[in-house]
Amino acid sequence: MKQVAFGTTGTLLPSIVLGCMRMNSADDPVKVLQTAVNNGITFFDHADIYGQGECEKIFAKSLAKTSIKREDLFIQSKCGIVPGEMYDFSKEHIIEAVNGSLKRLRTDYLDSLLLHRPDALMDPEEVAAAFDELKAQGKVRHFGVSNHSPLQVKLLQNVVEQPLEANQLQFGLMHSGMVDEGLNVNRGKEQISQRDEGVLDFSRLENMTVQAWSPYQASLVKEVFIANKRFPELNQKLDELAEKYQTTPTGLASAWILRHPANMQVIAGTMNTQRIEEIAQASEIQLSRKDWYQLYLAAGNHLP
Ligand SMILES: NC(=O)c1ccc[n+]([C@@H]2O[C@H](COP(=O)([O-])OP(=O)(O)OC[C@H]3O[C@@H](n4cnc5c(N)ncnc54)[C@H](OP(=O)(O)O)[C@@H]3O)[C@@H](O)[C@H]2O)c1
Repeated sequence: MKQVAFGTTGTLLPSIVLGCMRMNSADDPVKVLQTAVNNGITFFDHADIYGQGECEKIFAKSLAKTSIKREDLFIQSKCGIVPGEMYDFSKEHIIEAVNGSLKRLRTDYLDSLLLHRPDALMDPEEVAAAFDELKAQGKVRHFGVSNHSPLQVKLLQNVVEQPLEANQLQFGLMHSGMVDEGLNVNRGKEQISQRDEGVLDFSRLENMTVQAWSPYQASLVKEVFIANKRFPELNQKLDELAEKYQTTPTGLASAWILRHPANMQVIAGTMNTQRIEEIAQASEIQLSRKDWYQLYLAAGNHLP
């Protein structure tokens, strides 16, 4: 398993993370958990809202049925979304959400806590007060954000004492806006795209780990692009290169993300043990520059 440095911590952690958003749909969550750990995936991503809390509970219940030790795992959760109602980064909500996650996960601490999606009414002082309290109580070891722009990170980091170690962002072959905007700097009006404010370069400059969520989903349509007839050119290239690198299209799509020098993590959401193995094994593959670009183009992108 390829390891990556986690933010500014100096700690090396697995480049493949198991996303637990779909754990309530797993036929055998104990086997899923055990397969992940057997293959070097010891980092698990949660959120208080996944399955309305059920996913965290299923994870803890499954863990208890194995001999895997809590301290050998890196458990991350997220908070700040009140589904269908609002985003809430108030001190009260953050603390309450973490206490809920700790209870459901049956653990005394989270290795990492991310703010799930920007709250328009966010007051950095309140976030800082919540983080200070959670850190002092030993309930959260590291902090970060998800779906945040560079300016939003700066606004927070200006006040929050703990370094924001990670930004979880959607990224993959068919959702590559963070790369597209870097390739299209200084182009004509129609190609200008600065929607992400250079978040990829910013993350590299600030040593924030980029965690790529929904890595196998097509951007707008929310469906898996692998083996999907709607994307023939990409799948032809994935099949061709999978053979060359002795992996599967799923493995290759993961290796494409990890080839980027930003030292990203892939947050894979599969509950299929065969796929978990494929993805873990593919973390070691180093795509050539040419193959990386060929896949980028086959996904429907153009170079200026
Ligand atoms: N921060 C955020 O805002 C945010 C948002 C969404 C997700 N996330 C995180 O990202 C994680 C991953 O999200 P996701 O589950 O949407 O992403 P994903 O890994 O791209 O998709 C996994 C889903 O695709 C299915 N799938 C079908 N064919 C596949 C193939 N060939 N390879 C891989 N998967 C295939 C899987 O089914 P099988 O189980 O049958 O394989 C599973 O239902 C979540 O668990 C969560 O931790 C974060």
